[in-house]
Amino acid sequence: MNSLSMVHFYDQGVEAGDVSDEILVGLNKRQKTLSPKFFYDEKGSQLFTEITRQPEYYPTRTEIQLLRDHAGEISELIGEDFLLIEYGSGSSEKIRILLDSLRPSLYAPLDISRDYLAQAAEALGREYPWLEVHATCVDFTAEFELPFESEKRHVSFFPGSSIGNFERSEAAAFLSRIRSLVGADGGLLIGVDMKKDITVLNKAYNDKSGVTADFNLNILEHINREYDADFDLGRFKHEAKYDVEEGCIQMFLVSTSDQSVNVAGHHFQFSEGEKIHTENSHKYTVDEVLKMAKGAGFTKAKNWLDKDALFGVFYLYS
Ligand code: AVI
Repeated sequence: MNSLSMVHFYDQGVEAGDVSDEILVGLNKRQKTLSPKFFYDEKGSQLFTEITRQPEYYPTRTEIQLLRDHAGEISELIGEDFLLIEYGSGSSEKIRILLDSLRPSLYAPLDISRDYLAQAAEALGREYPWLEVHATCVDFTAEFELPFESEKRHVSFFPGSSIGNFERSEAAAFLSRIRSLVGADGGLLIGVDMKKDITVLNKAYNDKSGVTADFNLNILEHINREYDADFDLGRFKHEAKYDVEEGCIQMFLVSTSDQSVNVAGHHFQFSEGEKIHTENSHKYTVDEVLKMAKGAGFTKAKNWLDKDALFGVFYLYS
């Protein structure tokens, strides 16, 4: 742990060996797959920030407006004197909207992107000198324990509809884990992208400027650099489509020719048109969220939607 003033940093980062095994397992599947967590190297995190500024990508600006409009009410529901744990905090941009109203005793951002997290935590510590920050670099999609103890009531914050990037059963299990962490006197503030007109959804993941395409392709650049691979980025193209039955955007990289690729000393053959699945982004109805929350043990809920019902912010508690 490094400790600088009120900012503490804990590293529970995964080992390179475990990670390359995970990549090889994914590429050996019949439907070749790479986990979306490999999007988020430094460049990927920057590209994601750029996606959130694209006119077609409504989720971020809609959620931010909801948080701004309802910060007072959210704060009243949450109460005082608590530890706020943010999952996938990135640049900690959204929490800035809430910090002045929520005034948590401690803020614990969790993120897999070590350098990005460290910089964001330091910046936050400078901007909010009254705030004690405990940042942890961790893959929170797997089981983990907070590396510090706090007697305070626990409240989790999971914005951005990142819950949508889990499979539905995994999302339910994840909410149950959060419920166990926060306990009966805690809660979860979560942002969820709603089911809606398919055209709106497809446009959001196929922006005209091609930023989402660059973000998708960057997963290969990341793997080339960190895990000794030789993907030719010019021979894969971005594809994203909404699947109505699954209720999710499915994102792929499509091989534009027959080709072979080496990854960490292993050889993979791709035929023209063969796809690597890189991400699912599930969309929910309000009822689906409430049902999942109840299954996880949250007995009470309050939600806020924008006027077009594009996006929902939910506070789940007991
Ligand atoms: C981080 N996550 C919620 C984004 C989403 O919309 O599923 C990731 C993303 N992928 C492409 N565009 C944005």
